[in-house]
Amino acid sequence: MGEGLALNLESRGMRVAVYNRTAEKVVRFLKERAAGRAIEGYTDLRSFVSSLKRPRLILLLVKAGPPVDQALEALASAGLERGDIVADCGNSHYRDSDRRMVEAASRGYRFLGVGVSGGVEGALRGPSMMFGGDFSAYVEAERLLGRAAAVYESSRCTSYFGDGGGGHFVKIVHNGIEYAILQAIAESYDYLRRGLGMKAPEAADVFEEWSRGELRSFLVEAAARVLRHTDPESGRPLVEMIVDEAEQKGTGVWAVEASAEFGAPAPTICEAVQHRLISTRRDLRSRLSAPARPGGRGVGASLSPEDVGSALLATVILSYAQGAGLLDSGARRYRFRVSEAFRVWRAGCIIRSRIVEETFESLFYGGGEAAVQILAERQDQLEALLPRLAAFVSDAARIGLPAPAASSALAYYLALRSERLPANLIQAIRDYFGAHGFRLEGREGVFHSDWGARAG
Ligand SMILES: NC(=O)c1ccc[n+]([C@@H]2O[C@H](COP(=O)([O-])OP(=O)(O)OC[C@H]3O[C@@H](n4cnc5c(N)ncnc54)[C@H](OP(=O)(O)O)[C@@H]3O)[C@@H](O)[C@H]2O)c1
Repeated sequence: MGEGLALNLESRGMRVAVYNRTAEKVVRFLKERAAGRAIEGYTDLRSFVSSLKRPRLILLLVKAGPPVDQALEALASAGLERGDIVADCGNSHYRDSDRRMVEAASRGYRFLGVGVSGGVEGALRGPSMMFGGDFSAYVEAERLLGRAAAVYESSRCTSYFGDGGGGHFVKIVHNGIEYAILQAIAESYDYLRRGLGMKAPEAADVFEEWSRGELRSFLVEAAARVLRHTDPESGRPLVEMIVDEAEQKGTGVWAVEASAEFGAPAPTICEAVQHRLISTRRDLRSRLSAPARPGGRGVGASLSPEDVGSALLATVILSYAQGAGLLDSGARRYRFRVSEAFRVWRAGCIIRSRIVEETFESLFYGGGEAAVQILAERQDQLEALLPRLAAFVSDAARIGLPAPAASSALAYYLALRSERLPANLIQAIRDYFGAHGFRLEGREGVFHSDWGARAG
């Protein structure tokens, strides 16, 4: 990421210096990717810091967690001065960025927590940037970094999302949505493959078709490209040779934690994280694997690829709505406009899509909670898609295919459109065993019942 961003900034006419704690990487970078470019490399941190024009603007692209604190400590000892700016561009936790902004202020330099999305290619050609932290530092840094950002219809995909960890909060929500959509895409592929017996190139055709319609997005296009790619040695689709265990680096789990911390439901993001965990339990999966049999798993799938596409579209819309609900909570804490997140997600980032573009338009002119607005404005569309989402979930289950993203999105939507839920019984039983109390329809106050003899 760091190399790509350095090359990108240099290509926009900026003077760039780089440092990495492993000296060989600096030497190799200068010799190879940065050869002939106006990039200076340093293998000594003090020399790197003193080479920069003041006030310095230093971008950190290191692993999230303790490495960021270690790097900040090292920079402070290497000669940071009052007014300098350090921008942590990695995937840090928003709470860490809250803390780091305060620590930086006490030491006299300015801290920015910047969520950067777009992967390796985005860093090189123009990522989406979600800034948080010291506002004066944002204004100065954006003037330079914004030149390297993605642009959507002449508007830079950069914005400020409040003090401390605001930018990293938005990036965590972005990644949570990314987890949900990836899981939903994988389930659609599974149905096409194991349900409808398609080979990877046929599935690629289907994804390509979807990417031309309402599902137009970077991730659906990426799925089509990946499914079409063959291993040059064997000639087989490479995707079929890849171990089916999905890894994660932590931002998905943080999105789930944020959902619990802020009380903002995001079941599809939660399921996506859980199913990455399940995918890594190969031992258990091979022990419990049921043999294919006539009339059993993978046999008799009854949906068309169009039906699967409709279910995917509904799941994706509902995943964005859940992400918007998380943003609504973050917006209250960090004081940003949710529409700004959708604005900067329109280009450069991994979840860019037609749905993001449309959502920005509607949120920009709307008011109130973004999640409510998205769901209300798309209700007719969701109602039309509902039978196919339900059919996908039930047919997948009938033929033995897990569809956690689609089924959690379905349950989320069904719950939200239910004027009455059975939570009254949960409250009653909680009161029965734990005297937790309950509220009564049409009456003020909290009540408790004796319920007769208790079990246990
Ligand atoms: N890859 C992506 O598509 C992407 C997208 C968005 C955000 N990000 C985030 O950007 C950050 C960098 O990602 P990456 O993909 O570039 O990772 P990477 O290739 O694994 O690089 C990690 C960097 O962290 C440095 N580092 C690790 N521990 C350190 C420590 N204790 N002190 C100083 N430096 C330390 C490493 O230095 P050495 O070379 O010396 O080990 C290396 O330069 C991460 O937070 C990542 O989550 C990545």
